[in-house]
Amino acid sequence: MEKKTTVASSFCLLLLCVAAFAVAEVLAAHHHRHHHHRRRNDGSMKFFVLGDSYVDTGNIRKSVSPSWKEPYGITFPGKPAGRFSDGRVLTDYLAEYLGLRPPVPYALRKEANISEVEKGMNFAYGGTGVFDTLVSEPNLTTQIDFFQQLVEQEKLYAKGDLIKSSIALVSVAGNDYATHMVKTGNGSEDLAEFTKSVVKQIAVDLRRIRDLGVPKIAVTAVEPMGCIPRLTSLLSYQNCSESLNLASVFHNQVLRQNVEQLNKESNNSAFVILDLYDAFSSAINPQKDRQGNTTFRIDEPLKPCCVGVSSEYSCGSVDESTGAKKYNICSHPERSFFWDTVHPSQNGWHAVYSSLKSSLHQLYS
Ligand SMILES: *[C@@H]1O[C@H](CO)[C@@H](O)[C@H](O)[C@H]1NC(C)=O
Ligand SMILES: *[C@@H]1O[C@H](CO)[C@@H](O)[C@H](O)[C@H]1NC(C)=O
Ligand SMILES: *[C@@H]1O[C@H](CO)[C@@H](O)[C@H](O)[C@H]1NC(C)=O
Ligand SMILES: *[C@@H]1O[C@H](CO)[C@@H](O)[C@H](O)[C@H]1NC(C)=O
Ligand SMILES: *[C@@H]1O[C@H](CO)[C@@H](O)[C@H](O)[C@H]1NC(C)=O
Ligand SMILES: *[C@@H]1O[C@H](CO)[C@@H](O)[C@H](O)[C@H]1NC(C)=O
Repeated sequence: MEKKTTVASSFCLLLLCVAAFAVAEVLAAHHHRHHHHRRRNDGSMKFFVLGDSYVDTGNIRKSVSPSWKEPYGITFPGKPAGRFSDGRVLTDYLAEYLGLRPPVPYALRKEANISEVEKGMNFAYGGTGVFDTLVSEPNLTTQIDFFQQLVEQEKLYAKGDLIKSSIALVSVAGNDYATHMVKTGNGSEDLAEFTKSVVKQIAVDLRRIRDLGVPKIAVTAVEPMGCIPRLTSLLSYQNCSESLNLASVFHNQVLRQNVEQLNKESNNSAFVILDLYDAFSSAINPQKDRQGNTTFRIDEPLKPCCVGVSSEYSCGSVDESTGAKKYNICSHPERSFFWDTVHPSQNGWHAVYSSLKSSLHQLYS
């Protein structure tokens, strides 16, 4: 009970910041080394991705998203391509680990090479959650409907093939919480209850993906939400909001319990948690790195690399009449952790991936 109250009231204090976080989502190579992990991939492996902007690689519509505007994509692939980063995102690193190319975005499947489509698909849309958010993009339920349609109606993927060799990555990184705060205008009262409803829905969704035939499903634990630059800007990007991070900790505790339960009922370890909380934390606090060593050079880890010139602008903004850029980019994106006020840069994701790597063998067990 004690803990519940703490989490709830601190969330309330940061209400406005959380709202801004949601809005940012709505409006909103150098270190790249080629470690190929072609373990146990005989070419039949299929990779499916669902969720939000942490894994979207081009589904969100061009008209509604900065991810299709400069300077997004400047590091990779060299131009805006629908990723919420200067370069690679979690999807790209996971694909690399599996020895695959990042799967074709669902929205672009008609233009894609069938030999690529056969290897999997990315159904993730930036700004979405398990429930409806402030964006009108497909929620997780609808994304799974798309997947199911391809399996059951279009027979693009045979269930037998999926069961043999496929992996799904599901990212649910916090848009539900941001939306909850905006919609309730308060929301502090029932944060614990709301968390349980979010996780309950995640469990329903994970079960559906498993029932489509996917034998291994990785789901993200939420990152430390209190470290998102949109929120830490109030603290001059110096400190995370520890109290808001408690909301992440609570979500992750409930998630862990539910995933354990799911694994019990399926008699195997179908579900694996990718701990973004831990991975973000060790990148942001390199001194806490388990090896006592910092692999990545990260300057001012809480400071976003690309920001609007003033509060009414954000990364990617241009002046409507003159077309002049209304954002600034840091001089070394390759040393940043955050690219914009919500999303990690390629360097950030690479650091996160390095930290997650030791747990990725579970995808094959
Ligand atoms: C499709 O991809 C395969 C393998 O990457 C390639 O050989 C082929 O030329 C591609 N086809 C088209 C139409 O792009
Ligand atoms: C997801 O979106 C669909 C279509 O808009 C809606 O009918 C459904 O209620 C939503 N699901 C959840 C869990 O919010
Ligand atoms: C939030 O809602 C509760 C109960 O409805 C109310 O007592 C409280 O004053 C509200 N807080 C704010 C900041 O509006
Ligand atoms: C940030 O944290 C440090 C150390 O925990 C503390 O000394 C400092 O006052 C904090 N700064 C802000 C702006 O809260
Ligand atoms: C799990 O194992 C039990 C006992 O071995 C069996 O009865 C049950 O059908 C299994 N459940 C699944 C989902 O495989
Ligand atoms: C840290 O990394 C450097 C260079 O890779 C290595 O020489 C050193 O032994 C490492 N230190 C620790 C404490 O692991």
